[in-house]
Amino acid sequence: MERIDKILSHGLGWSRKEVKDAIKQKRVVLNNVIVKDSSIKVSDNDLIYVDEELVKTTFDEVIMIHKPKGVVCSTTDPHLPTVFDFFKLSSKIYHMIGRLDQDTTGLLLLTKDGQLTHQLMSPHKKVMKYYRVNLLKPITEEAINKLRIGVDIQDETLTAPAQVHQVSEHIIELGISEGRYHQIKRMMLALDNEVVELHRYRLGPLTLDSLNEGEWRALTQSEIESLKEKHI
Ligand code: URA
Repeated sequence: MERIDKILSHGLGWSRKEVKDAIKQKRVVLNNVIVKDSSIKVSDNDLIYVDEELVKTTFDEVIMIHKPKGVVCSTTDPHLPTVFDFFKLSSKIYHMIGRLDQDTTGLLLLTKDGQLTHQLMSPHKKVMKYYRVNLLKPITEEAINKLRIGVDIQDETLTAPAQVHQVSEHIIELGISEGRYHQIKRMMLALDNEVVELHRYRLGPLTLDSLNEGEWRALTQSEIESLKEKHI
């Protein structure tokens, strides 16, 4: 259940005031009844009309967020805001597809579709995740070669071959297909270096585009379809 004013402001891109005004002007109808209270809760099956047009019957299927630093990828935290607190999303409806560390910024997906999560998290799918990595020490030719072959991070197997593009002495763009715990930080430590800043700018076919830090948007249907393709 979600408040109708929240659904309308997210669904239509309206401000709280625009929503309030529309309700005051009796332009919002919920299941044949004119809405008078902007805090009324709505479920997935309810029909919402604005100006006699059906605007929203379900919650957004998949959401892309641009996670800021200091926001944690869990449902609760004793000290820091979680992605659910920060983006005012319900953890009863949405769950995260993968995680980013507290100090990592960038692209994270949330969905209410358990099957999609399962597909994207499956090691067989090998979804590519791209990061901009700021390093403490200059990157060496030898380290780049090791990243491209596989790095020993003290797991059972080496990391899968990564895609590496050197941007500057201290910055690389790194594409990895796995999602092991603290993977990039551990890869860099194994190469006698250290991550200073980590930012995920792309996941499979999706990039952050114009989404600023702290903003979110719903994926379009064609973006959702693109995530379901076999090789992404
Ligand atoms: N690798 C890491 O070490 N941290 C992240 O947040 C993502 C990938």
